[in-house]
Amino acid sequence: MYNAVLILHSWSRWLVIIFGLIAIFRALSGWQGRRDYLGADNGMGAAFVGSMHLQLLLGLLLYVGLSPYGLKAFETAGGAVMKDPEGRFWAVEHMATMILAVVAAQVGRTLSKKATDPVLKHKRAFVWFTVALLLVLLMIPWGIWNPARPLFRF
Ligand code: HEM
Repeated sequence: MYNAVLILHSWSRWLVIIFGLIAIFRALSGWQGRRDYLGADNGMGAAFVGSMHLQLLLGLLLYVGLSPYGLKAFETAGGAVMKDPEGRFWAVEHMATMILAVVAAQVGRTLSKKATDPVLKHKRAFVWFTVALLLVLLMIPWGIWNPARPLFRF
């Protein structure tokens, strides 16, 4: 079970990145080109936010039970988790920043849907989705400024 959820969580990061980039690109071109808000803009926004929610769900499953790096780390190592950079990354930094990213994506979707002017819809989607994707890219374990994990886990 742990392995299956970890593999899903690992692969669906690519969905988040691909949907996020397309949604941001569409929002920017719609905003700058003062274009109508199309079904495809709505669909791509929904796909991005949906993939973020999927990651949140899988991440919570890992964090609260399946993974040794979530709450279990506090049970086994106590306060020492916070003194170890890798332990702290998983137990606090990854989880907290990714939750903020999900909130930013959801706020963008809600505000964009609420706007009646199509250009404002694009602008709001662009600003909030960009913030969300930047946070995600910062906290994916690429192994540059945070722990290294496989790009493609099997
Ligand atoms: C929303 C965007 C998120 C993305 C793109 C993301 C991405 C990733 C990636 C790429 C890994 C490494 C997987 C591997 O080793 O192959 C990972 C691990 C992990 N993530 Fe996330 N994550 C997200 C959200 C979350 C959230 C919200 C939580 C907690 C509530 C979370 C908890 C974890 C945990 C505990 C691990 C380590 C699992 C282990 O090695 O045992 N993630 N995440």
